[in-house]
Amino acid sequence: MSTLSGRRIVLGVAGGIAAYKSVEVCRRLVDAGAHVSVIMTEDAHRFVGPVTFSALSSERVHTSLWDDDSAIPHTRLGQSADLVIVAPATARVLSAYATGYSADLLVATLIATRAPVLVCPAMHTEMWEHPSVQDNLAVLRARGVRVLDPESGRLAGGDSGAGRLADPARIVAAAAEVLGASRDMEGLHVVVTAGGTREPIDAVRVIANRSSGKQGYAVAAVAAERGARVTLVSTVDLPVPPGVTVVCAETAAQMKSAVDTLAPSADVIVMTAAVADFRPVRTADGKLKKRDGAPEIVLEPTPDILAGLGAAKRPGQTLVGFAAETDDLESNALDKLRRKNLDMVVANDVSAPGVGFGHDTNAVTIYLSTGGQKSVSLASKRSVAVHLLDSVVQVRG
Ligand code: CTP
Repeated sequence: MSTLSGRRIVLGVAGGIAAYKSVEVCRRLVDAGAHVSVIMTEDAHRFVGPVTFSALSSERVHTSLWDDDSAIPHTRLGQSADLVIVAPATARVLSAYATGYSADLLVATLIATRAPVLVCPAMHTEMWEHPSVQDNLAVLRARGVRVLDPESGRLAGGDSGAGRLADPARIVAAAAEVLGASRDMEGLHVVVTAGGTREPIDAVRVIANRSSGKQGYAVAAVAAERGARVTLVSTVDLPVPPGVTVVCAETAAQMKSAVDTLAPSADVIVMTAAVADFRPVRTADGKLKKRDGAPEIVLEPTPDILAGLGAAKRPGQTLVGFAAETDDLESNALDKLRRKNLDMVVANDVSAPGVGFGHDTNAVTIYLSTGGQKSVSLASKRSVAVHLLDSVVQVRG
């Protein structure tokens, strides 16, 4: 029996020329045994007749929020779905989904569902590359939406370039992958830290660092999708991944207090945060004034949260640290692994292009206390999170 057999899939079709390829996606899903409900936008009707989809899918096509038998078709379709696919996803639908502008049945269903969502964008290259489209996709990705990037090739009007809808076979394979994604972290409490700490100098100034928090959020999102109960101790304000509980922290001391409170119930702790190593000995009351001259700021070390966790580690608890390095990656990382009593250290060379702080991509080597290691070449932070958690599941046996 295939992963798709018996699964309820909502197939959203937006108004783009690639809508005709979605007919093939629908047919393949039905052939694989899925129950497929098709939602077409008004614009999609200009490209493909609804009768075509009705004939192939498992029920008549839905388009409007208002003409269904149910008074609330979007919640009915969204609640009963195991997966929602949008193919093709146009720039308009991506924008509406990212901002919650649920003016039609398709976007209302996307907002109403708790099922995983796979979007398959298709549009002209100029539109695909436009920052508005890429920004909306970044927001959706950060929320855990799967994006199957378009392919390069011939486009409508004889143009050629990136933006062609992914091949129907790839869309169906991606759908099977999403549905088959294992819940191998079910029953675990995973604590993740994210972002850089900010250590106050006075009432308005802080010592900060370049960490964006994106890698920590990706780890939290993937762990939650894999069934873990996830608590994210964060210093940054990014969209909260579904199913993740956020605890806010700003300074190293606040982060330590939050993590130490959570540690006794944590099965896995991933210290992704860039914790300041030093903080001002004292914080000035109010704002330091320029007229008083440049202040002398005396620093003291912050508590090493991770080393404290390593010293107090319970049997069965898995501790993961990060090592952002600019040279001697391996020896520095292995030194941290031993010194802080970690099960795993995720090392990256932050001087390499596209790696680490602020980027959407990362390249890491994961060193295990058991001696193994795994390199992940430049990939999305989400993909690095998947490899990291694969290693966690592996070391926990
Ligand atoms: N870390 C921590 N508490 C600190 C500093 C760092 O918990 N006060 C954690 C980070 O979250 C990260 C790991 O320790 O997971 C690596 O931090 P880093 O500062 O690179 O390690 P150190 O050994 O302190 O640093 P150095 O490179 O200076 O040897």
